[in-house]
Amino acid sequence: MKVIGINGSPRGENSQTKRLIDAVLNGAQEAGADVETIHLIYYDFKFRNACSICLQQEKCVFLDDFPRVYAKIKEADGIVLGSPVYIDLVTAQMKMLIDRMADGIQCQSLSGKYGCAVATSGDHAEGSVVTYLNHFLQMLGANPVGGVGVALGRDSHAIEKAEGEARELGKTLAFSIQTRRKDPALEEFHQRYRKRFEDVLSGEKPEWPLDYDYWVQQAWLW
Ligand SMILES: Cc1cc2nc3c(=O)[nH]c(=O)nc-3n(C[C@H](O)[C@H](O)[C@H](O)COP(=O)(O)O)c2cc1C
Repeated sequence: MKVIGINGSPRGENSQTKRLIDAVLNGAQEAGADVETIHLIYYDFKFRNACSICLQQEKCVFLDDFPRVYAKIKEADGIVLGSPVYIDLVTAQMKMLIDRMADGIQCQSLSGKYGCAVATSGDHAEGSVVTYLNHFLQMLGANPVGGVGVALGRDSHAIEKAEGEARELGKTLAFSIQTRRKDPALEEFHQRYRKRFEDVLSGEKPEWPLDYDYWVQQAWLW
């Protein structure tokens, strides 16, 4: 069982968000997971340019670190997304990754995986960033199991307090992977999403041949 943490903070190893990600990973490790953290700031990512070449051919026009990072995410059983709040949203580093992974939505690239989200803020919007990151995982087909958001400016011990909650979240994540935990509301969401893309891909077959073929391979379309 592999769990990967993705840190969107530009402060990398020195970030407070990393502390929360580490706590989640420690909890998952205690429950038997192998863990790894990727700090996006140390990787070379280009902005998405909407060329859509990847929908026609199995290649990307950019020679950067994205394929390597995406491969690691797809190899993992559990994904922990973490970002500081920057002007009410995720950081540019995290959004860059999200936009580059967007094609994963129509081929449900994280289907069957589990995930969770953490966020830190000065004093607001940590909850909405956690919700957004979990929603992104869900759109890719994964099953979010919870999240921890902490406003650092409200209490000088806020991070230490949140670390305990984050560790428990890591255990829940590992347990969900081990037991293939099913949540009826999430199952319903995934079914609805699949139906939507089934309709889109059937209609768009000539435009998106790779995604169409992937869906046929998965026996989601025939
Ligand atoms: C450019 C920038 C924008 C920020 N925007 C917000 C914000 O909208 N709301 C907030 O509560 N804190 C905001 N903060 C504070 C960070 O969210 C906070 O310091 C965070 O814990 C930093 O996490 P890190 O150590 O992992 O980088 C901002 C900080 C920076 C540098």
